[in-house]
Amino acid sequence: MCQNHGVAYIKPGEVEVREIDYPKLAIGNRQCHHGVIIKIVATNICGSDQHMVRGRTTAPAGLILGHEITGIVIEAGRDVEFIKEGDLVSVPFNIACGRCRNCKAGQTGICLNVNPARPGAAYGYVDMGGWVGGQAEYVMVPYADFNLLKFPDKDRAMEKIKDLTLLSDIFPTGFHGAVTAGVGPGSIVYVAGAGPVGLACAASCQLLGAAVVIVGDMNKERLEQARSFGCETVDLSQEASLGDQIEAIVGVPEVDSFVDCVGFEAKGHGADANKEQAATVLNSAMEITRAGGAIGIPGLYVTGDPGASDEAAKKGNLSIRIGLGWAKSHSFYTGQCPVMKYHRQLMNAILYDKVQIAKAVNVQVIKLQDAPSGYKDFDKGAAKKFVIDPNGMIMN
Ligand SMILES: NC(=O)c1ccc[n+]([C@@H]2O[C@H](COP(=O)([O-])OP(=O)(O)OC[C@H]3O[C@@H](n4cnc5c(N)ncnc54)[C@H](O)[C@@H]3O)[C@@H](O)[C@H]2O)c1
Ligand SMILES: [Zn+2]
Ligand SMILES: [Zn+2]
Repeated sequence: MCQNHGVAYIKPGEVEVREIDYPKLAIGNRQCHHGVIIKIVATNICGSDQHMVRGRTTAPAGLILGHEITGIVIEAGRDVEFIKEGDLVSVPFNIACGRCRNCKAGQTGICLNVNPARPGAAYGYVDMGGWVGGQAEYVMVPYADFNLLKFPDKDRAMEKIKDLTLLSDIFPTGFHGAVTAGVGPGSIVYVAGAGPVGLACAASCQLLGAAVVIVGDMNKERLEQARSFGCETVDLSQEASLGDQIEAIVGVPEVDSFVDCVGFEAKGHGADANKEQAATVLNSAMEITRAGGAIGIPGLYVTGDPGASDEAAKKGNLSIRIGLGWAKSHSFYTGQCPVMKYHRQLMNAILYDKVQIAKAVNVQVIKLQDAPSGYKDFDKGAAKKFVIDPNGMIMN
């Protein structure tokens, strides 16, 4: 019997690599003929995992983490017709059936059949259907023909694996944030957050032809990373208002498009740059987006936050000045990124050298046993995207 090891959430601030079950082609007691077993080549740590590991969700102890998975198919169920053993594939973090009305409409982030509790599912994530995560050596992927993106040439793909591993989540997510904020040729864009999603979004804005991409954060190292590939930056630890800092760059205190790549753990500005203010990014979006502009919100907002400082926020209620957004006819776009809508095009952009996404987010490859220290460094705000190499297939 093959062995398997994975990263388990233990308690706030603690994850552990432990022996876990080798995956079966089964969903509960039912056989999963449409699924495959994947030997994982690369699996990334995400800011979304950090919400759980910081104790800001109701994630249960022992949850096997990991939703950003790339790997080789080593076993395919009876009903898998087009994906074959040996294929190198990217796994969208959303689990989708391909059969419900939302999947048919391309809304794979809110599939109706993969999570009894609510629309939408993901591997290794609280409230997302109980699917086993893929920060591990092996994982099971259901509805394989529908979900998986096969890389056309394995050797060529392995040469760009540090870029291609970002197709399972943050590259499509950043791109989706930009698209839903209406970014196109000549746009002036503000991206809130210089974490991996914000940086992937900034690179996506450039790919879409934006004229100016301004990235804001209070983390100086991450802002430096944004400048390294041509972004303007705003340092929110400074006292000057966001509008004033934007005006200093583009001559007016407003932008065409705004992307929230921060989410509910947002911190304030100036003297409050270390203090959480969950609604601050949403409120500044309405303040600095021009009338008629659009706001993309890939940053995560939760329905329950046990770590919130006030009672309302514990239930996901935030104080947002919606009247301002209404008066300016803003459009807002929220939710999980439907990865499949974008991953093939972005794969080609990588394979044909139209984007340097691994460089933009500063990929650092680590071993599975170093995942706990990767989590710690990422939590401290390292300007890196940690990619785990669980089977020694990238580093060797
Ligand atoms: N919608 C989706 O499908 C999807 C997918 C992946 C990640 N996400 C979410 O995207 C968000 C970002 O992910 P990440 O991996 O980059 O996380 P991260 O935690 O590494 O980055 C967040 C960054 O925001 C900065 N920040 C805090 N307050 C700020 C403020 N007021 N203004 C500007 N910057 C501020 C932090 O300093 C940090 O650098 C998370 O909420 C994550 O859960 C959503
Ligand atoms: Zn992720
Ligand atoms: Zn579905």
